[in-house]
Amino acid sequence: MDRLIIEGGHPLKGEVTIAGAKNAALGLIPAVLLAEGVCKLENVPNIKDVNRFINILSKMGAKIERPNNNTVIFDTSSVAQYEMMDDETRKMRASYYLIGALLGRFKKVVIPFPGGCNIGVRPIDQHIKGFEALGAKVEIEHGIIKAYADELIGASIYMDVVSVGATINIMLAAVRAKGVTILENAAKEPHVVDVANFLNLMGANIKGAGTDIIKITGVSKMHGCEYMVIPDQIEAGTYMIAAVATKGDVLIKNIIPKHLESISAKLIEMGAEIFEYDDSIRVIGKENLRAINIKTLPYPGFPTDLQQPMAVLMCMAQGLGTITESIFENRFKYVDELQRMGAEILVNGRAAMISGKKKLSGTKLSATDLRAGAAMVIAGLVADGKTEVTELKHLDRGYENMEQKLLGLGAKIVRIRD
Ligand code: EPZ
Repeated sequence: MDRLIIEGGHPLKGEVTIAGAKNAALGLIPAVLLAEGVCKLENVPNIKDVNRFINILSKMGAKIERPNNNTVIFDTSSVAQYEMMDDETRKMRASYYLIGALLGRFKKVVIPFPGGCNIGVRPIDQHIKGFEALGAKVEIEHGIIKAYADELIGASIYMDVVSVGATINIMLAAVRAKGVTILENAAKEPHVVDVANFLNLMGANIKGAGTDIIKITGVSKMHGCEYMVIPDQIEAGTYMIAAVATKGDVLIKNIIPKHLESISAKLIEMGAEIFEYDDSIRVIGKENLRAINIKTLPYPGFPTDLQQPMAVLMCMAQGLGTITESIFENRFKYVDELQRMGAEILVNGRAAMISGKKKLSGTKLSATDLRAGAAMVIAGLVADGKTEVTELKHLDRGYENMEQKLLGLGAKIVRIRD
């Protein structure tokens, strides 16, 4: 089992290029099933979950070429199966997008219940509510999801919860439904917009993505196209936080500054210096950071996927800071690991109180989920002495070449391949 050995105390300096967005790519890849033809995706992040999904489509009969690590060409014209029970689909949450995509293409789908980070119950009731509103019958028994529809008919759907996954999943089915679907209380994340833009390029008719009301007018045919995945807001935010935590000076390239507004605002509130350019952002860490309060919210609020890395930075600020996790009910498991480094964090339900000015000392840590893994790495970068981070399978699901990128910024980090 691989592990990272990190020597703390080295400020990150230099430039880092951000990869394509994991959570956009995981919606774009199943979406190619809706086109009879060839789709080319560029700026695809070379990470485990993405490679797993490409593998799943290949097992379903899609012809796939990969001219380089970040470009994938799909020809799904020969895909005829609507059942995908392969174990790979159980290993990640995003495999639920196969429901919307296969309903859209075949009006039938059989897949196992999705997996994913252990950060809460993560039901899919809103996904099912949407599919049933479109006329599908959905059954879940023995951990298998079966859905089928004689016809998909456009409908008005009000989401009880703002859900990224349900918004994208229902869009994938509704683009091929007869008539108009109105999705209200929709998620507005950049990756929702990215999938909508891709679907429209394939011939779909989606309006309003990025707002909380999305109007989808079904079409009977969709065609192949070429598309570039947007930069990863969460990967970029992770390096911004690491730059401030190590009192470094980092130029983060290939980003969309607007997607990072909530993170920039919070880092400036703490006392960091931020310079925004067209497609890059410079982040400079300062001494004596101020304590802040954070509440995770759907986009454009502060993203839940960055609350774990942010908690490490807040350990270093002057005074008491709080994090309120309003999206997931169990996303503070990583705190136990930080406490072993000397962090003083009190968790009470969905709130964490973080005492600042704590010197973290290196020790052996294990990542409990993908973004907790990122938090452990940042903790290692700032801690006294050496830190060992295990369970890298989580980290590798969402961060492309993390140790190489950090080495390029002057970190003392090495991956031991056991
Ligand atoms: C997506 O998960 C992301 N994953 C998550 O990123 C991210 O944390 C999350 O959106 C929020 O931004 C992917 O895109 C693959 P939700 P998803 O549906 O779609 C509840 C990462 O680290 N809910 O927006 O599962 C749910 O329990 C991962 O990259 C229902 O109640 O998130 C949660 O409390 C972790 N019923 C809230 O809504 C449903 O049917 C938001 O979940 C669906 C969701």
